[in-house]
Amino acid sequence: MKKKLIAGNWKMNGSLAANEALIKGLVSGVGTPNCLVALCVPSVYLAQCRSLLTGSVIDLGAQDVSQHEAGAFTGEVSCSMLNDFGVRYCLVGHSERRQYHFETDAVVALKAQRALASGVTPIVCIGETLAEREAGRTEEVVKRQLAAVIHANGHCISEIVLAYEPVWAIGTGKTASAEQAQQVHAVLRAQLKAASSQADRIQLLYGGSMNAANASQLLGQPDIDGGLIGGASLKAPDFLSIIASAG
Ligand code: PGA
Repeated sequence: MKKKLIAGNWKMNGSLAANEALIKGLVSGVGTPNCLVALCVPSVYLAQCRSLLTGSVIDLGAQDVSQHEAGAFTGEVSCSMLNDFGVRYCLVGHSERRQYHFETDAVVALKAQRALASGVTPIVCIGETLAEREAGRTEEVVKRQLAAVIHANGHCISEIVLAYEPVWAIGTGKTASAEQAQQVHAVLRAQLKAASSQADRIQLLYGGSMNAANASQLLGQPDIDGGLIGGASLKAPDFLSIIASAG
């Protein structure tokens, strides 16, 4: 059976001291989970986190990657650089990247393609804004975002992880209800099935104010295969409790 994936997204948080305390707490408390676990950390801390996670069941992830292979792209980090640090996952198209860094569907699709070609699993993030939901456009928006990634990646689409993160639920404390999330996940699953005979193996994560209290209900939905967790991944007891809910 497909294992669930619980991925933490630290965003722009952390320090050498705080990372060490958090990772030590997670490594000592995680035991042998029934799910996969990953931490997507700021790229400057990849080396530190790689060494703290070595020998543990927790995988290392990055939060973004360049769509280019190498060259004159000041400030960017390439997939081969991620490979140097044993990075297994990389977020692409997080709504904060789309919103504040103007990443388009096409750029996100290219990033996913670049990651796949380098053996890094892209966690492709999609989701509608509040205005889009209120206008009844949720399905149209998430299907458009996913279609760009399917179009660029063809049959390799079965190698991605997909994260549905309604923008209005991120960092706001407003979680989509389990039914709302499941409804969108079912639409996305159908779209993936139409694109690939292997779609059932794709992990479909929910993200947006997932926490220790609401995780089991969300993770109990038939098409929710894990979580992408921001705020609650910064506290070891909360993140460990979410991991336990995925068992
Ligand atoms: P949140 O963030 O859990 O703090 O809402 C989730 C995310 O942005 O990935």
